[in-house]
Amino acid sequence: MELIQQPDLSVNIAGLELANPVLLASGTCGYGAEVADLVGLSLYDSVPGGIVVKGISLKPRLGNPPPRLAETPCGLLNSIGLENVGVEVFLEQKLPWLRSVNTAVIVNILGNSVEEYAELASLLNVAGVDALEVNISCPNVREGGVAFGADPEMAARVTKAVRNASIKPVIIKLSPNVTDIAVIARACEEAGADALSLINTLLGMAVDIKKRRPVLANVFGGLSGPAVKPVALRMVWQASRAVNIPIIGIGGISSWQDAIEFFMAGAVAVEVGTAVMVRPSVVQEIVSGIGQFMEETGAFDVCSMRL
Ligand SMILES: Cc1cc2nc3c(=O)[nH]c(=O)nc-3n(C[C@H](O)[C@H](O)[C@H](O)COP(=O)(O)O)c2cc1C
Repeated sequence: MELIQQPDLSVNIAGLELANPVLLASGTCGYGAEVADLVGLSLYDSVPGGIVVKGISLKPRLGNPPPRLAETPCGLLNSIGLENVGVEVFLEQKLPWLRSVNTAVIVNILGNSVEEYAELASLLNVAGVDALEVNISCPNVREGGVAFGADPEMAARVTKAVRNASIKPVIIKLSPNVTDIAVIARACEEAGADALSLINTLLGMAVDIKKRRPVLANVFGGLSGPAVKPVALRMVWQASRAVNIPIIGIGGISSWQDAIEFFMAGAVAVEVGTAVMVRPSVVQEIVSGIGQFMEETGAFDVCSMRL
């Protein structure tokens, strides 16, 4: 009898076990409970392989004043300003529910200084947190306000501090607003990152010509959605050839075909953000589509698809 090998959708990213390689991207699914029924987060068989929760800071943040969202052709501009409940409330009120769900929980963290990132990492050394994703697209308030992720030396300092403070796998989430993504990726790997995720949003703006002013109260916002996919793919390709640690691809993924493109470019998992806000059932379609594609093409795991 001929044995047919079923495709294996599970992936292990530096000790982070995922039942499948499709994660909910940070900021687009709250703390999980808000979207549980829509995206299939449940006690038993959850649809997504994991959830990356909204970025958490040491103290609660109100974010930017409205308007904070603007649609663009094939994209979305947001200037939420990293509004969140703060780590204390997250641990007391959000994590208990997340612990009960059968999916990997990745906590996205953000800080204004290297010390803040390290403190957050140590506070999150608790059961129920499966990994940290470190958002380095934040301004270094202590040292001139340039984003940590825009400078290899600052990116390395944050990475090292979080790596030393945490007992969890550490994923550094890269900013696309840089000249050479490979340089930043290598700096993070050398500083001890277990994995990288990319991309965060691209800095953009929109103008209301009737009101003669920028659409967003904050003037600038982060661009996401299908418009950014070609940029994200290019950066995943470059980063995956610059480092030996696993890469999680993010940016404009709205179908299973998009996800396959990212695996072929060098990603071992993907995060889906804006598309989930548009049509939550897309998560199920992406997971099923990947499995079917692997079966049809004889790919036995996601990594084997890499070009
Ligand atoms: C409304 C909104 C809020 C976001 N908040 C965060 C955040 O708190 N931390 C973070 O690292 N990324 C945040 N992101 C970026 C997404 O996680 C993702 O990197 C980006 O949107 C690109 O993926 P997409 O095109 O699939 O949305 C946010 C994106 C959106 C649209």
